[in-house]
Amino acid sequence: MPKDTILVTGGAGYIGSHTVVLLIEAGYKVVVFDNLSNASKESLKRVEKLVNQKITFIEGDIRSREDLQKVFDSHNIDSVIHFAGLKAVGESVEKPLKYYDNNVNGTVILCEMMAKNGCKSIIFSSSATVYGDPATTPILESFPTSATNPYGRSKLMIEEILRDVYVADNAWKIVLLRYFNPVGSHQSGSIGEDPNGIPNNLMPFIAQTAVGKREYLSVFGDDYDTIDGTGVRDYIHVVDLADAHVKAVGKVKNFTEVMTINLGTGKGYSVLEMVKAFEKASGKKVPYQIAPRRAGDIATCFANPSYAKEILAWEATKGIEAMCEDSWRWQSSNPNGYN
Ligand code: NAD
Ligand code: WQD
Repeated sequence: MPKDTILVTGGAGYIGSHTVVLLIEAGYKVVVFDNLSNASKESLKRVEKLVNQKITFIEGDIRSREDLQKVFDSHNIDSVIHFAGLKAVGESVEKPLKYYDNNVNGTVILCEMMAKNGCKSIIFSSSATVYGDPATTPILESFPTSATNPYGRSKLMIEEILRDVYVADNAWKIVLLRYFNPVGSHQSGSIGEDPNGIPNNLMPFIAQTAVGKREYLSVFGDDYDTIDGTGVRDYIHVVDLADAHVKAVGKVKNFTEVMTINLGTGKGYSVLEMVKAFEKASGKKVPYQIAPRRAGDIATCFANPSYAKEILAWEATKGIEAMCEDSWRWQSSNPNGYN
């Protein structure tokens, strides 16, 4: 039986490119839509090599009705996996309108154009950031939500907008996937995370330090109430994350309510545990210095992932060793990312 055609917005980006590989391997037809604001065509060239076929790519912006209409005119889209968005927390504090326009307005226009063209099935990239500073861990989907910055608020707003869309028209099929901390890369090391400038996130910063691009890692705080005083997070391998999207797209048409699902491993690691694991995987030293806490950071964040197992028949399979080894393979063979 021929498989569905999936529109992947933001499909040239970090999580999107990995998901495109797995979708194609699972037999789906894929249309990638991206404005390349935080990605390059090189990632898609690498994906083509991995899957040994041409990728259908349409360059465009989710805020452009014209760009989106071109997609629906040329392809019969069954479901959308919606990764397109801006994700830098610090930048969102400085430029909130840019984030609300790109993320919130962009999603509104995307949904409007989907409905107009008879496609009402969407899987949305939400984030564990919507839990704010949780009272306890592990975090369940039923925990209260809040936002501490415009990026996080844009994710919360989009979740609420999508729930309203469903209330107004129950024909919609909507999955909200709340990612914990995606890290690692495809095991080939040919695609991976390629942040612009100085990385904000821990894993790419560690990898760039190990490869000699950064002198040392600043560890933001060692006086949290955690195992060693440094922040604890639920790091999840990007290939596991991509696999959850393949599972979600296979089930989305059967859902009769908006599904909200955590994607994490259920295990938390501290900053210093990550440093140690990376040193072991890479055989390189990762020099670090203790620095003040970063504004807005919380002590501990990790998922209770049991709902994903129940609903998607999915669970993370790759541990911290694979996360570090694969991240190192990408970083060491591409010290300057896709450039
Ligand atoms: P990414 O920046 O690598 O990918 C996002 C892609 O969307 C980029 O290729 C970018 O060019 C594209 N894009 C942005 N705005 C667009 C627009 N208006 N029109 C078309 N394309 C546009 O980021 P990622 O890490 O792959 O994240 C994917 C999604 O997952 C994002 O929505 C992000 O907020 C969410 N998320 C990421 C993380 C994380 O830590 N990486 C955690 C939780 C949620
Ligand atoms: C992890 C830990 C830092 C960098 C962010 C977003 C969140 C989500 C994922 C999109 C923390 C420490 C970090 C460094 C450090 N993104 N750290 N030195 O903050 O959990 O989440 O990315 O949705 O919304 O907020 O991830 O990788 O930035 O930090 O010590 O140079 O590493 O303090 O404890 P975070 P992170």
